Amino acid sequence: MTDSADREAQLSGGDLALRAQLLRSQIRQHEYQYFVQDAPQIPDGDFDALVGELRSIEAAHPELLTEDSPTQRPGGWASNTFQNVTHRVPMLSLDNAFDDEELRSWGGRIDRIIGEGYAATMALVGEPKIDGLAISLTYERGVLARAATRGDGQVGEDVTANVLTIDAIPHRLDGDDIPELIEVRGEIFMPTAAFVDLNERQAAAGMPLYVNPRNTAAGSLRQLDPAVTASRHLSAFCYHTGAIVGGPVLTGHAQMLDYLQSWGLPVSPEVRTLTGLEEAVGFAHHMLELRHDLSYEIDGAVIKVDNLALREDLGFTSRAPRWAIAYKFPPEEKSTRLDDIMVSIGRTGRATPFAVLEPVFVGGSTVSMATLHNEDEVARRDVRPGDTVIVRKAGDVIPEVLGPVLSDRPDDSVPWQFPRHCPTCGEPLSRLDGEANTYCTNATCPAQRVQRIAYFGSRKAMDIEGLGEQTAHLMVSANLVTDVADLYYLTRDDVLGLAGFGDLSTDHLLAGIEASKSQPLDRVLVSLGIRNVGPTAARDLAARFSSMDALRRASDDELSSVDGVGPTIVASLRTFFDGTENAAMLQRMIDAGVNMAAVAVDQVGDEWAGLSFVVTGTLSDMSRDIAQERIAALGGLVKSSVSRKTDFVVAGDNAGSKLTKAQELGVTVLDDARFHAALADPSVLVGESD
Ligand code: IVH
Repeated sequence: MTDSADREAQLSGGDLALRAQLLRSQIRQHEYQYFVQDAPQIPDGDFDALVGELRSIEAAHPELLTEDSPTQRPGGWASNTFQNVTHRVPMLSLDNAFDDEELRSWGGRIDRIIGEGYAATMALVGEPKIDGLAISLTYERGVLARAATRGDGQVGEDVTANVLTIDAIPHRLDGDDIPELIEVRGEIFMPTAAFVDLNERQAAAGMPLYVNPRNTAAGSLRQLDPAVTASRHLSAFCYHTGAIVGGPVLTGHAQMLDYLQSWGLPVSPEVRTLTGLEEAVGFAHHMLELRHDLSYEIDGAVIKVDNLALREDLGFTSRAPRWAIAYKFPPEEKSTRLDDIMVSIGRTGRATPFAVLEPVFVGGSTVSMATLHNEDEVARRDVRPGDTVIVRKAGDVIPEVLGPVLSDRPDDSVPWQFPRHCPTCGEPLSRLDGEANTYCTNATCPAQRVQRIAYFGSRKAMDIEGLGEQTAHLMVSANLVTDVADLYYLTRDDVLGLAGFGDLSTDHLLAGIEASKSQPLDRVLVSLGIRNVGPTAARDLAARFSSMDALRRASDDELSSVDGVGPTIVASLRTFFDGTENAAMLQRMIDAGVNMAAVAVDQVGDEWAGLSFVVTGTLSDMSRDIAQERIAALGGLVKSSVSRKTDFVVAGDNAGSKLTKAQELGVTVLDDARFHAALADPSVLVGESD
């Protein structure tokens, strides 16, 4: 027996009427939170359960059914932020099936209307059920005249200006037989990658994170400034039509989708034509398996009768068509107990609170921990040890604690306090005014060391196989390494002495460390964990400055002239390079043979090995940086000032004091033409300098 049937069996007639009333008001409240506030308070699965319980009470006791019951109309609300638009044809919702049996019962209902055995062989179309928000696009003579949200199904909101910023939606239809007027219905969504990117940007700016792609897409579409919508990288798929005037004679759904696509409208590539109900069951399973391989979130599959004439015969209930059904996947949000909130220390010393959860299977894996980001996020969600919390996990997305179930909060619960001391080294934690993050500022904190070393070995940094958090922990505990340079001085015996290391694993780790010496400059930069310098900034900096030395000596202006490098990155680089310990660490890395040039060692030639160059003035067809890179790629050493030891000065137009100095010291000067000739045939310089 289901929970709701269980409860129903225990309730008397009067209690049932009260229960139905309570359910109706709860459902309305949750719909308001979901559709108007874009801030659901409970998981979708719990919401569906409330609707399911109300529906079953109403089915068993029709006298309790009221006209305004939420089961009698599609969910949704029109809010009044945007101009209201009355849909020419109402936008209905779909009935749900939660398992194979319920999907088969839908076929049974069709058989009862059309004829026994029909569902077994009927032509169907299977589509992903995209987890976004419904949109109605009205094209007049092929031009997008209006875009409206669903609202309450009858009246939606005019969001045309915002929808015009979505690349996937054409402003003008193109192709044959375009109708005089057509309302195209579809779903606007935020691709998972855009959501992850957006939250990374939020986190970097110390701003609160968005909860899920669906609500973020809804919020992004309801922006008063279309530029904000444009920055959110929304997308869309079309799956239905409302009013149509003119255009081709349409007889089937698949044919209609083909037309939409031929006019330039986006249609999901996952759409399939199916024969009979069992293929529909198979399709629903197929979509469930595919769920996490898609670049956008889906919460089910939709099965539709293909034949449009047959749809007329099947008709509608008050809220949904009988010719379609949504097969809803199990929810990706679950509730569980929050056992504790702990704090972990990262490589920069950042103290990140995380939730220790009673393990719960959600979104395809078991979740027992989830980040809570920072002190303000814990306060914003008001989660406390002992709470029942809602956990969300979709595919590869990091698990999130959405918030507490307040009705289940223990009476003696108190708000959680951020600890004042580092849980590892015991030194005071500090949070600066205006900063979202709290830090352990003790540079010798063992937790930070472990994280810095593990990060150095990680795939996106120096990619050293066998050097993960566990090994880093062993090395730091054994006092073998205090900074990353120490890795390059480890002996075989050092590693063999670590718990769990035998001959093979030791050789493997040492070979990995050795190989990492050839990584290019951008990798080295990333792996040093300089604050705010991620892979993109590192690549751009390495492309501009040929070597660590050139980068270290670059002025603030030179640094910030690199695209995407602003004052924050410049300040972080300065802090890093000005630190005497960092300089010593870099020197020990260089002494150990770690490459510090923009190209990996195995791509560096040796034609100009041992020769030093200074580049000055304006060259005819390449920037000074490119010239320096080309020199470094041939094994030459790029210097910034001219001395007696300089082998060549490459002087372009308007060369100033460096050229004069070269002439005074008798250093060989290469003009534009000679430098180009030398690049074409590097051997001409060898043996040439004085
Ligand atoms: S058809 C009259 N097809 O799911 C039928 N809806 O839970 C109109 N949805 O309101 C809807 N993917 O916002 C349809 N492939 C799909 C869909 C889809 C997502 C949404 C839509 C609808 C809701 C119903």
